[in-house]
Amino acid sequence: MKFLRMTDLDLKGKRVFIRADLNVPQDESGGITDDTRIRASLPAFEAALAAGAALMVATHLGRPVEGKPTPLDSLAPVAERLSRLLGRTVPLITDWVDGVHVAPGEIVLLENCRINPGEKKNDDALARKMAALCDIYVNDAFGAAHRTEATTVGMAHYAPIACAGPLLAAELDALGRALSNPRRPLLAIVAGSKVSTKLTILRSLAASVDQLIVGGGIANTFMLAAGSPVGQSLAEPGLVGEARAVMDLMHSRAATVPLPTDVVVATELSASARAHAVKASEVAPGEMILDIGADTARTLAELIEAAGTIVWNGPMGVFEYEQFAEGTRAIAQAIARSKAFSIAGGGDTLAAITKFGIAEQVSYISTGGGAFLEFLEGRPLPAVAALQARAG
Ligand code: 3PG
Repeated sequence: MKFLRMTDLDLKGKRVFIRADLNVPQDESGGITDDTRIRASLPAFEAALAAGAALMVATHLGRPVEGKPTPLDSLAPVAERLSRLLGRTVPLITDWVDGVHVAPGEIVLLENCRINPGEKKNDDALARKMAALCDIYVNDAFGAAHRTEATTVGMAHYAPIACAGPLLAAELDALGRALSNPRRPLLAIVAGSKVSTKLTILRSLAASVDQLIVGGGIANTFMLAAGSPVGQSLAEPGLVGEARAVMDLMHSRAATVPLPTDVVVATELSASARAHAVKASEVAPGEMILDIGADTARTLAELIEAAGTIVWNGPMGVFEYEQFAEGTRAIAQAIARSKAFSIAGGGDTLAAITKFGIAEQVSYISTGGGAFLEFLEGRPLPAVAALQARAG
């Protein structure tokens, strides 16, 4: 991919505007519950400051109503955490669109960019105004790269110079490495509750991967397509044809979609539900499939350990409850043991990685949610396209 990179530019004395994705999860009172995205963005800020840039950092937080900010939309908790992580005070600037005072070697955080009217629909006048704030626009917000907004796309067109920050570049390098020229076998794990939300990804991966492991409700729909009973399980009978088409495409390429041979079932979904294992062909009409069984987990673990590249999105079962966590645990541990280049992304997947303590053993963990999924779908990310357009 051809675009300018921040690391190749001289930032000394320049007004540098970094669009980061510091959209972190918060509790009801605004407390940050996971600061991964802030920590992942630090290298860009530190490099710009070390180079002597006058640094403005912008991000969205949540989905506020434009022009109608509430206290919970404020980046105040982010400014505080960022100050702590950088070891210096990071002032939070409100009403910044018409001008920002910041000296070389200093950093300011600009209040939630989605409060500004016109941000979300990529308003041209707003984009031009914000672009005029800087000499160099840096997009380091991989997590928001699938959004066409004024700070993610519009500014890239109008800023004097537009480039990619180190996190955005690293994400694209890692994802490109996993999907463009992967070490084979290339194995993808796509799991989650519904085929409908991941149909495009399934179709797109079916054309390129060697093994496609499906899990969760998605696997139930595939099992239905293969003629297995699924009882009361979450499944989409209307998409059985689509599931069959994915399997047919895979089989025509001599690639495989290994379906569960045994599963863990219960008659209710709750923390106290009584779980038991059955053969996949013996799920009773009143039962729900809530995890893969031990034999299936062993088979999948062998495939994972033999893979050259692994792309992981989605847990195999309801891993939040211990009695349905074994399948996802086995998959996570197999990924951890595997010598493959592994890449993982998506909210549930990151929660599973944390729960099973394998973060150190995954080659690359994406900070993107929707952006990660859109990349897997093979869709161009508008913010990246805008940087490429500037590179000529
Ligand atoms: C995310 O959390 O995936 C990104 O920050 C994008 O947020 P959005 O879905 O509100 O655009």
